Amino acid sequence: MTADASSTIGLIGAGNMAGAMIQGFVRADPERAGRIFATDRGSGSAARLAAEHGIAALPTNEELVDRCDVILLCVKPIDVERVLRAVGGRVTRDKALASVAAGVATVTMETILDEDAPVFRLMPNVPVQVGAGTICFAPGRFTDTAAEERVLDWLRLLGTVVRLEERQFDAATALSGSGPAFIGLVIEAFEDAGIVAGLSHAQARELILTTMLGTATMLDVNDLSCSELRRMVTSPGGTAATGLAALERAGVRGAIIDGVLAAMRRAAELG
Ligand SMILES: NC(=O)c1ccc[n+]([C@@H]2O[C@H](COP(=O)([O-])OP(=O)(O)OC[C@H]3O[C@@H](n4cnc5c(N)ncnc54)[C@H](OP(=O)(O)O)[C@@H]3O)[C@@H](O)[C@H]2O)c1
Repeated sequence: MTADASSTIGLIGAGNMAGAMIQGFVRADPERAGRIFATDRGSGSAARLAAEHGIAALPTNEELVDRCDVILLCVKPIDVERVLRAVGGRVTRDKALASVAAGVATVTMETILDEDAPVFRLMPNVPVQVGAGTICFAPGRFTDTAAEERVLDWLRLLGTVVRLEERQFDAATALSGSGPAFIGLVIEAFEDAGIVAGLSHAQARELILTTMLGTATMLDVNDLSCSELRRMVTSPGGTAATGLAALERAGVRGAIIDGVLAAMRRAAELG
């Protein structure tokens, strides 16, 4: 099923995540810019995004909800309740509200809205900005295929949409929501290593970025397991085997597991 070609989307909140999503929408389909709206809390951030991307800033959340088919709630978790109480009755069954707020459950939002409003929970990550995001997606209790398609028609522009059980969202928040920060740290460490090994920063960056992308593409396209891939690169007594042994001795694998579990516990606390 394809959604209405005139479908409109409104982002309540115009901060980091809203900006990344708007940039992703417009980059993927510039003709949709005229169907994208945003609000802020008074800082002028929505007007700045409007000037930058050719979307429109609206003065109130009420007007945004009335004008839009899909409402993306892009405020901090602590602000969700206040925003939803103010727009509550306007989120009718012919619309869909999707929230990116970490830790805020669909049942909480449904209770505040006090209607059979179609509510979705999302966990995007910042590569949505360049159409390479991972967007975890869970429907609430009052959604149907039509509401789901209204939301997915926009989300698919941003990258890969992955349907999860809502109880898995703290894990998803840790792994893919926070993931770009973790991967950024790893890439930076490889850049440093390249410099220590004698490359310029630019050379090290080019080598590690293309190696990361190439490795991920190969794992995905050939449906390889990581151990199969390692066997292809690691010959007995060779450079990869020696390097891998040093990395394992240093506890890289355990440190990554600990980091993701710490992020997951924090996601649960914030919720
Ligand atoms: N950043 C990430 O990588 C990431 C990843 C996944 C999920 N998220 C989720 O995305 C949400 C937003 O995070 P962020 O990093 O984008 O935060 P942010 O940069 O602080 O942006 C929050 C935005 O909400 C606006 N806002 C607050 N109250 C409002 C109201 N009553 N009406 C309209 N706008 C209002 C603020 O307006 P002003 O500009 O006027 O202050 C601001 O533009 C959070 O819930 C977070 O859990 C973020």
